[in-house]
Amino acid sequence: MAVTALVGAQWGDEGKGKVIDILAEKSDMVVRAQGGNNAGHTVVAGGVTYKLHLIPSGILYKNTICVIGNGTVIDPAVVLEEMESLSSRGVDLSRLKIDARAHVIFPYHIALDGLSEDARGKADIGTTKKGIGPCYMDKAERIGIRMCDLIQPDVFAEKLKRNVSLKNNIITKLYGGEPLDCDKILADYNEYAKKLASFVCDTSVLVYNAVKQGKNVLFEGAQGALLDLDVGTYPYVTSSHPVSGGFCVGAGVGPTLIKDVLGIAKSYTTRVGKGPFPTELDDEVGNFIREQGFEYGTTTGRPRRCGWLDAVILRFAVRVNGLTGIALNKLDTLTGLKKLKICVAYEKNGQKVYDFPSDISELADCKPVYEEYDGWTEDITKAKSVKDLPKAAVAYLRAIEKLIDCPIKMVGVGPDRTQNFML
Ligand code: GDP
Ligand code: IMO
Ligand code: MG
Repeated sequence: MAVTALVGAQWGDEGKGKVIDILAEKSDMVVRAQGGNNAGHTVVAGGVTYKLHLIPSGILYKNTICVIGNGTVIDPAVVLEEMESLSSRGVDLSRLKIDARAHVIFPYHIALDGLSEDARGKADIGTTKKGIGPCYMDKAERIGIRMCDLIQPDVFAEKLKRNVSLKNNIITKLYGGEPLDCDKILADYNEYAKKLASFVCDTSVLVYNAVKQGKNVLFEGAQGALLDLDVGTYPYVTSSHPVSGGFCVGAGVGPTLIKDVLGIAKSYTTRVGKGPFPTELDDEVGNFIREQGFEYGTTTGRPRRCGWLDAVILRFAVRVNGLTGIALNKLDTLTGLKKLKICVAYEKNGQKVYDFPSDISELADCKPVYEEYDGWTEDITKAKSVKDLPKAAVAYLRAIEKLIDCPIKMVGVGPDRTQNFML
């Protein structure tokens, strides 16, 4: 039994796609269990860049089964587009499996995501506007339409009519928006259903059997710990559970199956969307990191907010995920900065705070307490082991391990699948 779960340890975009792709070479199955196409996972292989939103990042290996689990939300148009783009590049998609229980995103979810964000005005969350929150709302309200419904035309037509009528009332009467055309949605989605039906199955059984047969299974997290609906920086979070516990519910298997939990982190911190960010840098260092690290959203193209590494956040990620190791990416991005800072605690009313506050309003009075480290100027993008790193870079890695009490197991020094080594 060898199940490794990979989770984002910050606010997403930590380079999960790259690490999954690397580990997938020796994996039999890669499983997405939460979120939807709000995720954007980048894989760079042989000079080609793949941006994956729903399809697991193990898809580039011929023998890896890729599962989109019951806890995800699926925009069929997006998944089909992604499938077409991959197959036009020669990727075989017969290994893709979609759970029958996964909920489907409809145009009214996307419309409501936009309308509710607009209605919040300055208090908006900065969502990806992909309909993720409204789709999970329907799931919780128990009116959602699932993949198993979508592929049964009669069941689907009835459920869709009920929902479109309800949602049009909300769209027009509450928000003053334009009503959606139910017949058009029905026709479009019936076409999607025909194309997707053969991929739909009970993936919980597939995952369970693979684990029982001793296969290597990877769980691919989307988003990151601080975007978790329960333990993240609520309300500036996504509507699912990106922490390791989310895999159990979202893949339909129990927690005893998971052996290792690898947290993916950047060597600094970024955030896209609104909400608190204690170590954010609104200065030339922040701009340096953004440009050097090409910190622009994979899904929305928005510039990512950038700041120093925050050990308080990483300790939180270690705790809420039960991390057994960290993969630290983008060490190369810091090359050229004379001094580096790590936030080791927050200071609040003269007291040190070591644990990330449960209520974000407490962050208003928290100031980061920094420790300073020497930077380096050597090009590290070709480093193949820790021996190839400048002393200052090694000291930076060791300091992080000590501050968060968790071993760094992998280091990323570039976007390509080859620019990574075990520590
Ligand atoms: P994900 O959502 O966690 O999969 O991350 P994204 O793909 O949204 O963003 C991470 C970005 O960093 C992508 O453009 C990756 O190609 C890139 N990347 C990943 N690891 C490294 C690294 O070690 N160094 C550099 N320079 N880029 C990296
Ligand atoms: P990956 O998997 C970074 C953020 C959005 C917004 C909040 C809620 O690529 O790391 P949503 O559309 O989910 O309702 O938006 O969550 N967000 C992400 N930020 N990476 C992601 O995914 C994200 N998915 C959602 O920017 O702040
Ligand atoms: Mg991303």
